[in-house]
Amino acid sequence: MVQIYRPQKRQQQTVVQEVTITDLDLHGQGVGRHNGLVCFVPGALPGEKVKARLTVKGKVATGRLQGLLVASDERVEPRCEYVGRCGGCQLQHLPVASQLNYKEAALKGELQRAGIAVAQWQPALTGAEFGYRRTLRLAIFDGKLGFRAVGSQNIIPVSHCAVAEPALSKLLPSLQGLLPRLKGQRHLGHLELLHLPPHTAALWRLTGALPKADMEKLIAWAQAEDVVLYTQQQEITQHWPQQPQALGYRLDDLELSVGPADFIQVNGSINQAMVAQALAWLAPSQDERVLDAYSGLGNFSLPLCKRAKAVVAVEGVAAMTERNRHNAELNGLTNLDARTLDLDDQSAVAALVAEGFEAALLDPARPGAQALCQALASGTGPGRVLYVSCNPSTWKRDAALLAQGGYRLLRLGLMDMFSQTAHVELMALFIREG
Ligand SMILES: C[S@@+](CC[C@H](N)C(=O)[O-])C[C@H]1O[C@@H](n2cnc3c(N)ncnc32)[C@H](O)[C@@H]1O
Repeated sequence: MVQIYRPQKRQQQTVVQEVTITDLDLHGQGVGRHNGLVCFVPGALPGEKVKARLTVKGKVATGRLQGLLVASDERVEPRCEYVGRCGGCQLQHLPVASQLNYKEAALKGELQRAGIAVAQWQPALTGAEFGYRRTLRLAIFDGKLGFRAVGSQNIIPVSHCAVAEPALSKLLPSLQGLLPRLKGQRHLGHLELLHLPPHTAALWRLTGALPKADMEKLIAWAQAEDVVLYTQQQEITQHWPQQPQALGYRLDDLELSVGPADFIQVNGSINQAMVAQALAWLAPSQDERVLDAYSGLGNFSLPLCKRAKAVVAVEGVAAMTERNRHNAELNGLTNLDARTLDLDDQSAVAALVAEGFEAALLDPARPGAQALCQALASGTGPGRVLYVSCNPSTWKRDAALLAQGGYRLLRLGLMDMFSQTAHVELMALFIREG
């Protein structure tokens, strides 16, 4: 007889418990201990005693906050009514200075456990606490338009967003009014809003063609709200206004042109401060060849071009490489060599590093830059490596690789790119020893 192997399901148990919270982890969750269990409770703060519904798996329990028995003195009233339901802002119940203190403490703890030493901690880059997001992505499903709920795919319809730039937040009520009037809702994937003064733009990602009457309603909405309207099924089409509009932003006395679907840093003023700090820390000089890895549309490449002899910008998306080249031309910069390359490809990355650079800047997406850090650590890497990270977990792994390759972590600082949320962004400068 055939025996079918069925792995036993791990035992899960749900209990309601009182937990004393002692720490905040890197995901913004309260951490406490109870009966030998480590308990993670989103929304709870250090110093609090909470009632939580805990789901226990082995030695770990994840919880849902059910009530505060003793509240922290630091706790503040969230500004936004959607907190606790919308998955966006995990830390609005904490003042921003405390958010940063806890993020730094959690990161210090992680680095200590990983045995990574930091020579100098730098003050965090800070900016507006609310109203800073110049891009918003809204999910659309089942007649609802909004943000994903905490811990689920459900959509919480929103009529305002406290962290969005006011020019974007003010579009939400009319969008809520528009959605039920569209007959082809099933063809709406999601909506991206973008505020790059003087323009506000909306890009509707479509899974199929919208009826003509729906397109007319979208255009009437864009006209009434003074929004540049795009749709994308395969190609991106601008529908309103009739004349093509150029989107872009200024940085370091440069003009960067942006396509409606391009990646841009979410927080415009922190971006300005981040690029300035990266240039100050990396200090490229006129006789140096610099690598800008994960270069996107040239946010770091072009300021580097102004200061270095030559910049090799490497990016995985060909359209972004093209945009970077175009932006260099737009600004009369002739020392950019922009290339499309998969930076996860170990042999391509090893060949790239072997070309020889005096300095490198890395700004990867959440998966980090493992293959590149392996290559940099192999002995031919540049003297200075500046790493901008949006994910401390992958950065920690990559920092350990660089340390094994003889790099010392000279400077580390947080950047408050996503205030009110649990996101942690950081900048680190590594120097090759010997
Ligand atoms: C965080 S963004 C940074 C972009 C740019 N440095 C900026 O400041 O706007 C990361 C970039 O890495 C690119 N990327 C992601 N995975 C990649 C890979 N495996 N190889 C090359 N580029 C990649 C993305 O297309 C994106 O442009």
